[in-house]
Amino acid sequence: MLNLLKHLPDNAHVDDIVVGLSVKPSQITDGIALKTEHVTKIFDSVSGRVEALRDINLTVKKGEFVSIMGPSGSGKSVLLNILGALDRPTSGKVFINGLDIFALGNAEIATMRNLLIGYIFQSYNLVNRTTVQTNVKLPAIIAGVSPSEANFRSMKILEYLGIADKAKQKPANLSGGQQQRVAIARCLINNPSIILADEPTGNLDTKTGQDIFSMLNELSRKFKRTIIMVTHNPELAELTDRTIVIKDGRIDKEIIN
Ligand SMILES: Nc1ncnc2c1ncn2[C@@H]1O[C@H](COP(=O)(O)OP(=O)(O)OP(=O)(O)O)[C@@H](O)[C@H]1O
Ligand SMILES: [Mg+2]
Repeated sequence: MLNLLKHLPDNAHVDDIVVGLSVKPSQITDGIALKTEHVTKIFDSVSGRVEALRDINLTVKKGEFVSIMGPSGSGKSVLLNILGALDRPTSGKVFINGLDIFALGNAEIATMRNLLIGYIFQSYNLVNRTTVQTNVKLPAIIAGVSPSEANFRSMKILEYLGIADKAKQKPANLSGGQQQRVAIARCLINNPSIILADEPTGNLDTKTGQDIFSMLNELSRKFKRTIIMVTHNPELAELTDRTIVIKDGRIDKEIIN
C-alpha cells in the first residue's frame, strides 16, 4: 500500500491516485461519485441463508447528500459496508469515482478506501488506548503522510469541529457527541470525497444528534462532500437531498426531499 502512495504529494487527489492502480476508471465519471450495478449480498451460514441485498442499482451524484432508511435488518449497514469497500458483494459492481473498486486487489482496495472514503459508525469506533489527536491522525499516517503534516491537519480539523482542547485526552473521557466529532475528524483527515455514515446520531440525544447532523450538512453544502447517511430519524432524512428506502434487501422507493 505504501508503495503505491510514496510517489504522491500530501494533498494528492483521486486523479493522481488512480495513475498507479492496476485498474483504470472505466466509466464516465463526470458528476457521479458512486454507482452500483446489480449488487447482491448473500450470507450463507449454519443458521441458514440470508439474502441481505438484492439487485441494488444506485447512482449518487458528486456533492449529493443521500439518506438511507428502512426497518431493522433490511440491509442498510450491509449496503453501506459494500459502498465503503469494507465488504465484498456476492455479485454486482461498485464504481467509486468511476473506478470498479472490487476489480482491484485487496491491498489496493484498502488504499483506495483510506484515501477516498470517510466512514463514521454509530458507536464511534475510536481507539481508547491512545489520544484523540492520534485517533484522528491514524488514517493519515497509514496513508504515508509525514508526521508534521498529520499533526497540522489533525489540529486544524479538531479546531474546525470545536474540540481542539480535547486533543490530548483519551476518547473514553469525552461525551458521546464529542466522541462522534472525533470520529468525524478522523474520517476527514485524508480529505475523502465520499463520507459514509451509519446511524451517526443513533447513540446521541436529540440535541447532540442535531449538532452532529448540522456538521455533516455543512460538509455537504459548504465543502461539497458526497454523503450517504443511514438514519432511523425521518426528520433528519427529510433535510437531505434524497432518501432511499430499503426493504428486505431491495430499494423500495426513493424520495426527493
Ligand atoms: N456477517 C453476517 N453474517 C450473516 N448475516 C448477516 C451478516 N451481516 C448482516 N447479516 C444479515 O443481513 C441482514 C441485513 O443486516 P443489516 O445489518 O444490513 O441490517 P440494518 O438494516 O443495518 O439493520 P439495523 O437498522 O438494525 O442496523 C440481516 O438479516 C442480518 O442478520
Ligand atoms: Mg445497521
